[in-house]
Amino acid sequence: MAIREIREIGDEILTKRSKEVKEMTPRVQTLIEDMIDTMYKSGGVGLAAVQVGVLKRIVVIDCSEDGDELHVLINPKIVETSGEQTGQEGCLSVPGKSGEVTRPNYAKVVFLDENMQPAELEGTELLARAICHECDHLDGKLYVDLVEGDLVDVNTEN
Ligand code: NI
Repeated sequence: MAIREIREIGDEILTKRSKEVKEMTPRVQTLIEDMIDTMYKSGGVGLAAVQVGVLKRIVVIDCSEDGDELHVLINPKIVETSGEQTGQEGCLSVPGKSGEVTRPNYAKVVFLDENMQPAELEGTELLARAICHECDHLDGKLYVDLVEGDLVDVNTEN
């Protein structure tokens, strides 16, 4: 397990499209473990592989208060959305900032789990927001391009 360096806005890699994962390998498994460690250590609710500099379609998400609802999504594809929510959004790659973004209030995503078996996840509210935000990363998109109004400074605790 290891904490990896998080790439920040301005780094060109964050604008690139990530590639599908074809098979589970020890290297991919280690990447996933490191992404999980990096997300929790950084206090984020989600992290995409590209944010640690690896162009693979993998995201990890945990929106729970206690950090005990971990989702690992490989090759995720959003297949259904509905409703709308508008709220503050941030990103570990855009430290110290947040901005108001409108997202679907419900999202259903299909993906492969860590055994490369098909799986699906439905989320509302924060989880739906995180699913959409993280999947955008895999297509080289950052939330800052969706912000209504200005990015604002947020207080960071460390
Ligand atoms: Ni992000």
